[in-house]
Amino acid sequence: MTDLNETSINSVEAISYRYYNYVALIIILGILIIGKPRKKVDNKNRKLGQWTAEDYKPPSPAPYPNWDLNKTGPLPYRAFKHKYNITMGIRNMDWSSWFEIDNQWFKFHREKLNRLEKYDTSLYETTKEALPAAYELLEEMREYLPKRYPSMFESTEYGIHNKATDEDVNFMGKYRNFNPAKKTGVDPMKLAALLVQDDLAIMMESKDGQYILKGGAIILPGFWKFRDKFNMTLENIHTSGDVPKFKEKLQSGMEKFFVRLTCDKPVVRNNYFLQTDDQLGWSVSIGNEFKGKVGWGTADEATEIEKIHLRSERQSLRRLPKSGAIIFTVRTYFIPITEIVKEPFIPRRLLNGILSWEEDVQDYRGFTKFKDVLLPYLEEKALEQERLGFLPEEGPNVFPF
Ligand code: HEM
Ligand SMILES: *[C@@H]1O[C@H](CO)[C@@H](O)[C@H](O)[C@H]1NC(C)=O
Ligand SMILES: *[C@@H]1O[C@H](CO)[C@@H](O)[C@H](O)[C@H]1NC(C)=O
Ligand SMILES: *[C@@H]1O[C@H](CO)[C@@H](O)[C@H](O)[C@H]1NC(C)=O
Repeated sequence: MTDLNETSINSVEAISYRYYNYVALIIILGILIIGKPRKKVDNKNRKLGQWTAEDYKPPSPAPYPNWDLNKTGPLPYRAFKHKYNITMGIRNMDWSSWFEIDNQWFKFHREKLNRLEKYDTSLYETTKEALPAAYELLEEMREYLPKRYPSMFESTEYGIHNKATDEDVNFMGKYRNFNPAKKTGVDPMKLAALLVQDDLAIMMESKDGQYILKGGAIILPGFWKFRDKFNMTLENIHTSGDVPKFKEKLQSGMEKFFVRLTCDKPVVRNNYFLQTDDQLGWSVSIGNEFKGKVGWGTADEATEIEKIHLRSERQSLRRLPKSGAIIFTVRTYFIPITEIVKEPFIPRRLLNGILSWEEDVQDYRGFTKFKDVLLPYLEEKALEQERLGFLPEEGPNVFPF
C-alpha cells in the first residue's frame, strides 16, 4: 500500500514536471518564430533627433500605364494660377508617382553626367550621418523603380539593372562600400541621382527639431547651389535665398510639418519660375555658377522670347522608416514659352499669374529681366485665343495642370 501511494505521488509530480517543460518549450518556440516581445515603436512621442526604426513598407506602385521610355512625354504641369498666393501648397502624394520618368530621361541623364564630369563633388555629398539614409533611399528605389517602370529597371542581387543604359547599379552587400571620412567607394547619392531625372536631398532632424540638409545630389538646380545650402537648416536655406514672406507665411507651418511627417503620408508640391535661357542644369543668364555671387540682380534683360522657358518643379517629401530621414525630391519640367502658349487658356492664365505677383515675389523671380519681352507676347497670344473663343477659362484647370 505504501509503495503504491508513493508511486502515484511520484507519477503526479512527473506529469506536472513534464507539463511545465512543454510550456517552456512552446514559449521558446514562440519567441523564435514570432520574434522577441518588443516595445511598441512610438515615434510620435520621440525625443527630437532620435528616431526608432519602423517596419513600414510603402504600398507597391502600379506599373505606369503604357509607359515607354522613348515615347511617354513629360506630364504637362502648368502650375500657375490666375492669382499668385504664397502657401506651402502641399498635397498628398499617390505612392505610385514617387518618381516620374519620361522620354526626357536621356537628356536629363546626359546633362547630369556632363555636369558631374565638370563639377563632381560640388554637386553631391553623403555625410556620415546621412549614410544609412542614403542606402535606405537606394533600397527603396530598388523596390519602387522595377515595379513602376518594369521595361526600364530590374532588381538584382546587389541593386538595380538599368536596361536603358545596360548598367548594373550596385549598392548592396559588398558594394555598400562608401566611406564618407575617406571618400573611398561610390557615393550612394550620386548613384541614386543617376537613376532618375530628379535632384535628391536628405533632411535630418537635429536635437532641437531643426531639419538640416545633410546629404544630397543637386545636379540640375537651375538657380541655387548645393554647396551654398549644405548643412543648413530649413530656415537658413530659405532665408539665405530671400524666399518671399518665408518667415511670415511659411516657416512655422513648414517646421511643424517636418517634425510631424509620418512614413505613410508622403506629399508633393509644384512651383514655377521663368528662366531667360535654355540651360536645364544651370541658368547661365543669371551668372556663372562658380564665379562670384549670382542672382537675378546680375542677370541681363532677356531680348528674345525664344530664350524664355517655363521652369516648373514637382517636389516630393517622404520619411524613410528605418533612418527616419526625410527625402526631398525635385523633378524639373522645362519648356519653351513659345510651346506652352499654344495650349488653351495658358497664355492668359500665366499672364494673370505674373501680373499678380507682389513686389517681393517680382524681385525673387526676376520680373524686370523678362517683363518687356514676355508680357506683350503673352497678351498677344491670349488675345489670339480669346478671338477664337477660349473665354473665360473653362475645361480642365485642376491645379497643378
Ligand atoms: C514643405 C516643404 C517646403 C516648402 C513649403 C518650401 C517652400 C519654398 C518656396 C515657397 C520657395 C520659393 C520658390 C517656390 O515657390 O518654390 C522655396 C525655395 C527653395 N527651397 Fe523650399 N520649401 C520646402 C522644402 C524645401 C526643402 C526640404 C529644401 C531642401 C533643400 C528646400 C530648398 C529650397 C531652396 C534651395 C530654394 C531656393 C532658395 C533660393 O532661391 O536660394 N525647400 N521653397
Ligand atoms: C530608345 O531610344 C534609345 C536611344 O535613342 C535606343 O537606343 C533604344 O533602342 C530605344 N528603345 C526602344 C525600346 O525603342
Ligand atoms: C492666400 O493663402 C492664405 C493662406 O496662407 C489664405 O488665408 C488667403 O485667403 C489666400 N489668399 C487668396 C487671395 O487666395
Ligand atoms: C555642420 O554644422 C555643424 C553645426 O553648425 C558643425 O558642427 C559641423 O561641423 C558642420 N558640418 C559640416 C560637414 O560642415
